[in-house]
Amino acid sequence: MQEKLALAQALLAKLAKNDLEGVAGDTATLSALTRDARWRIHETPEYMSRSVEFERAVNALASAATGKSGDGAALAWVQVNMNCLECHRWAREAGQEKKR
Ligand code: HEC
Repeated sequence: MQEKLALAQALLAKLAKNDLEGVAGDTATLSALTRDARWRIHETPEYMSRSVEFERAVNALASAATGKSGDGAALAWVQVNMNCLECHRWAREAGQEKKR
């Protein structure tokens, strides 16, 4: 998760500079992390489906960046962040505790 935070920060910096190639590169790393076993903290269907939604948002950001759409990337970025926060809220409300 810390890696994700570092990547999210790096992404914001690149978006701010309109470095869309850099954004596309970071989204590839972010997607790969989501598929990493360490990301699968919970094996519940709900967590898995939230992970899939998150990855879909990351993919939308990747396509916007590849398509050189700065506006699309900005919008997709908001969605990615909403997914971070929504999953965390779900994890808190579901009383899920840290497993690592
Ligand atoms: C599908 C669910 C989900 C998504 C999406 C998600 N997280 Fe998390 N995150 C968790 C869970 C569950 C924990 C608590 C377990 C842990 O600490 O690893 C957590 C913990 C964290 C932590 C605290 C780690 C620590 O060392 O205490 C940070 C920081 C974090 N997430 C950042 C992010 C960022 C940034 C994003 C989006 C780019 C994101 N997360 C997206 C589920 C998610």
